[in-house]
Amino acid sequence: MAVYQDDFPIVSAEKLSDTVFDFKVSCPQLASDAFPGQFIHVICSAEKLLRRPISICEIDKTNSTIRFVFEQRGEGTRLLSGKKAGDTLNILGPLGKGFTALYAYDSAVVVGGGIGVPPLLEVAKSFNGACDAILGFRNSEAAILIDDFFDVCGDVSVTTDDGSLGTHGFVTDVLRKRLENDPPQVIAACGPTIMLKNVAALAKMYNVDCYVSLEERMGCGVGACLVCACRTRDENGDIKHSHVCSDGPVFNAEEVAF
Ligand SMILES: Cc1cc2nc3c(=O)[nH]c(=O)nc-3n(C[C@H](O)[C@H](O)[C@H](O)COP(=O)(O)OP(=O)(O)OC[C@H]3O[C@@H](n4cnc5c(N)ncnc54)[C@H](O)[C@@H]3O)c2cc1C
Ligand code: FES
Repeated sequence: MAVYQDDFPIVSAEKLSDTVFDFKVSCPQLASDAFPGQFIHVICSAEKLLRRPISICEIDKTNSTIRFVFEQRGEGTRLLSGKKAGDTLNILGPLGKGFTALYAYDSAVVVGGGIGVPPLLEVAKSFNGACDAILGFRNSEAAILIDDFFDVCGDVSVTTDDGSLGTHGFVTDVLRKRLENDPPQVIAACGPTIMLKNVAALAKMYNVDCYVSLEERMGCGVGACLVCACRTRDENGDIKHSHVCSDGPVFNAEEVAF
């Protein structure tokens, strides 16, 4: 699969909240080749910082753009958030294995937590309406992309930890009810590790296929430096180490040793 590296122009740079930013970049070949769940590796500044990995949130093949949504966490994302439309960004991508295994299913439920929600938007879109979303946030101020999911999903459930928006509780509370009453063909999840672990356990309990997108600190982004090692299981159930950047970030939940 081709990987591109170039300076690409930012066509829009918006703020979704005090700490979350929403960028679109014009990158024709990259947009044409990208799959849902893949990520880009971005140089955030001219200073000597490693690239930072950010998931692709939407792929617009007609307008040759990709969209990504990121939270300002540390120095890299702070510098990135200062970029404006018209600036260029040096991007390496598309990288990693996305949610391509989901193409074998006709319908799905996506389960996202916090800043893990963005990559699931393109996944949901790929089901042409045959996808429901369960999205969880700390509180109403942290809620992002809900209208975007309503535009492309059959049903959208929102949970907040403090009850300030949607159902008071965790995504797994809503997912459990869904699995009891109307189990989906497949689950795709992205969010904090503890959420992924609990989603995977529920999927196993109800015998539903599940794919999770993992996060690890990254160096090279292409399988050469070992920074992003994660614990997985081989076909015999023995522990091995995989690279989140090149073996993932999307894994069959059964493979992950949480
Ligand atoms: C495949 C992949 C996709 C990602 N997609 C997105 C996305 O769509 N939107 C988004 O906002 N973020 C995403 N991230 C996380 C993003 O890469 C980090 O937030 C970013 O690298 C932080 O860089 P920084 O220089 O701002 O912060 P740093 O100064 O490097 O770190 C700030 C804080 O964030 C923590 N941190 C940094 N990187 C990670 C990480 N990978 N996992 C857990 N904690 C981390 C650090 O421990 C520290 O507490 C993704 C990460 C991966 C691996
Ligand atoms: S980031 Fe270098 S091997 Fe994954």
